[in-house]
Amino acid sequence: MANLEDHFGDDASLDKEDTKSILEFLVKNSAEASTKEASVKFLNSIKNDDIIAMSQTTFWKNEHKDIPKTVFEHEKIKSKANCKACHSDIEKGLIEDEKIKNINNFM
Ligand code: HEC
Repeated sequence: MANLEDHFGDDASLDKEDTKSILEFLVKNSAEASTKEASVKFLNSIKNDDIIAMSQTTFWKNEHKDIPKTVFEHEKIKSKANCKACHSDIEKGLIEDEKIKNINNFM
C-alpha cells in the first residue's frame, strides 16, 4: 500500500480516503488477525522473507505442487493468483476441501 505508484509495473495510486479504507480492511483481515488454519500456515511459511504473493510461499507451493503448470495457464484460470477459479468459497476466507474444483476439468 505504501508504493502503489509502482504496483507490479502499474501506477495503482489512489486518493487518500480510498488508501485509508483499503489499508484498514487489509490490516483487519490480515493473516496476523486470523485464527484460520490456512492463515497460520501461510504466516509460518513466510517467516521473515519479503514475500508479496501467497503463491510464492513454500506452503502454497507445496499444496499445489502436483498441479500441472498447464492447468494454471487454462483460459478459465490464467494465473496462480486466480484463487477463486479453483476455490469457490475463498472470498469468504474459506478453503474447504469439498469446495476445491476438480482440476481435471482444466486439463
Ligand atoms: C488450478 C486450481 C487452483 C488455484 C488457481 C489455486 N488453488 Fe489452492 N488448491 C488447489 C487444489 C487442487 C488443492 C488441493 C491440493 C491437494 O490436496 O493435493 C489446493 C489446496 C490449497 C490449500 C490447502 C487446503 C487445505 O485444506 O490444506 C490452500 C490454503 C490453498 N489451496 C490456497 C490457495 C490460494 C490462496 C490460491 C490463490 C493465490 C490458490 N490456492 C490457487 C487448486 C488451486
